Amino acid sequence: MATDSARISENRGVGDGYAAGMSQREAEVLEALGAHLSNAQIAGRLHISVRTVESHVSSLLRKFGVADRRELADLAQTVLAPAAGRPAAPVGLPALWTSFVGRAPERDAILTALKTSRLVSLVGPGGVGKTRLAVEIAREAAPSYPSGCAFVDLVPVAEGFVTQAVAALLGVTEEPGQRLDTAVLDHLTEGRWLLVLDNCEHLLAVAAAFAERLLASCPGVTVLATSRERLAAGGERTVPRKPLSPPHDPEDAAEAADRAGEVRMHGTGSPNIDA
Ligand SMILES: Nc1ncnc2c1ncn2[C@@H]1O[C@H](COP(=O)(O)OP(=O)(O)O)[C@@H](O)[C@H]1O
Ligand SMILES: [Mg+2]
Repeated sequence: MATDSARISENRGVGDGYAAGMSQREAEVLEALGAHLSNAQIAGRLHISVRTVESHVSSLLRKFGVADRRELADLAQTVLAPAAGRPAAPVGLPALWTSFVGRAPERDAILTALKTSRLVSLVGPGGVGKTRLAVEIAREAAPSYPSGCAFVDLVPVAEGFVTQAVAALLGVTEEPGQRLDTAVLDHLTEGRWLLVLDNCEHLLAVAAAFAERLLASCPGVTVLATSRERLAAGGERTVPRKPLSPPHDPEDAAEAADRAGEVRMHGTGSPNIDA
């Protein structure tokens, strides 16, 4: 058993999601098994049917190759604890080909804003580095959101499909007769989560409505949005991402040097953004 636990724990590396290919929902069932809840109690806690719980339990038995729920309960703590010394990684982060340059004060200001505001929008013109900064922030902030951190790239998402995009990333599916948005809200209703909604500009109203529902229904959810314009959602705190100016401090100079090609492509004109 100890050997199994160690192996499973090792398998849950940064960026791997859960051990043994567990879905988010299965991890929640496993956690409840670890607390020695009955199937009926688990169904009540997770707002799913007892039959669905049974099917998750069978799947967990199969995935971990153990004989009964008592063994699953024994495994739960080891399997669900983040790997020693390493926080769980955010899901959905884009692959990056360059290292992050400069802007530590800006990053720290946003990390601080996220501690007091549950909806922070990083706003600025295209190409100014909002997505890049949001990735850094998600990585830095992830340990403060033990339930999970999801980075949702909205560029390929059409209006009306924001919920689907979030659900897919979180591994949430609706129960028969349940609406998907209800399933997502249920999923996020407990625990502390960070949701990054990246590139909201083409669906501002939908993103705003989605964020407002999250904030109203899920007290442990914090949203970081990036957008060319603010969402105009209730409770939104807007942080401008300043365009590169002619370098006058070492941070900007380093970034400008690294992104020289970018600056040439986009020009250096400063749009009208509040400081
Ligand atoms: N601080 C930074 N360090 C390194 N590369 C950056 C930085 N900011 C932006 N970039 C690069 O500049 C380009 C545009 O940045 P991006 O974050 O996509 O802008 P936006 O989201 O504002 O449109 C990307 O290739 C990105 O990797
Ligand atoms: Mg972007």
